[in-house]
Amino acid sequence: MQSRTPAELATIALEVASQAALLLQAGFRSRPAVGKKARIDLVTEFDLASEVLLRQRLSELTPELPLIGEEQGGTPTTELAWYVDPLDGTTNFVHGHPFYCVSVGAMRDGRPVAGAVVAPSLGLSYHGAIGELAYRNGEPCRVSDSVELEDSLLATGFSPNYRREPPHDNFEPFLRAKRIVRGVRRCGAAALDLCFVADGTYDGYWERSLHAWDLVAGSAILLAAGGRITGLHGREPELSIGHVIASNGRLHEALLELVGEDPQRVPLPSA
Ligand code: IPD
Ligand code: CA
Ligand code: CA
Repeated sequence: MQSRTPAELATIALEVASQAALLLQAGFRSRPAVGKKARIDLVTEFDLASEVLLRQRLSELTPELPLIGEEQGGTPTTELAWYVDPLDGTTNFVHGHPFYCVSVGAMRDGRPVAGAVVAPSLGLSYHGAIGELAYRNGEPCRVSDSVELEDSLLATGFSPNYRREPPHDNFEPFLRAKRIVRGVRRCGAAALDLCFVADGTYDGYWERSLHAWDLVAGSAILLAAGGRITGLHGREPELSIGHVIASNGRLHEALLELVGEDPQRVPLPSA
């Protein structure tokens, strides 16, 4: 069986994610029919068609690798496997908001190995591999240098599941962060949020109750860009459980205290 380097996997991920991204862009703002997996968990024909394309291309290019995708599932494994989100940011896509992407990542034994994230309506593509560089539109990118929470721009998200009960609703950590940092964005595509930490746009990001297909590609890119990702408790992230804090590394401990599992209150600024 052919073994692939992380860099080769990142290149393959970028190629197939770019193809699927073209498919999505062709349907953007076309007012697609909307199905509901749950009350606010949407799906369109473009989510489905994108995953069909990704499965077909990846089975041609890497027939030895299993694939777990949001729409058709698959069996999670500790072996090297693809984790794909064919359309991350479906709610944005449905409403004609350009913050959506295709996310294709490879993970082995719970650790991200390589990935690509392509956001066609933003003109952005990212790819990266463990032990290599991270790239934004083909140019190397790095995390930010910020060391102070009060100078930082963060991002978060709110899961369509569990949103009514604390702590899963994420409201309390969100309010706490808003009082301390420059801003907290909620743009609606977890894979892109991670890439925006990787390229230094955001200094940190946290969210609860995501899935491995939301996280694997962006985590690989973030780590390649010099960032750090943990669970909300500060230990190794369990990407299949999906509670994560990602940062430029320098701010990580402060972020854990601010929005982590057992946050100690950070003193409020005087003005
Ligand atoms: C969603 C997005 C969103 C996050 C949700 C995810 P989907 O993925 O990543 O930013 O807040 O928790 O479910 O459903 O658009 O693929
Ligand atoms: Ca997603
Ligand atoms: Ca999705």
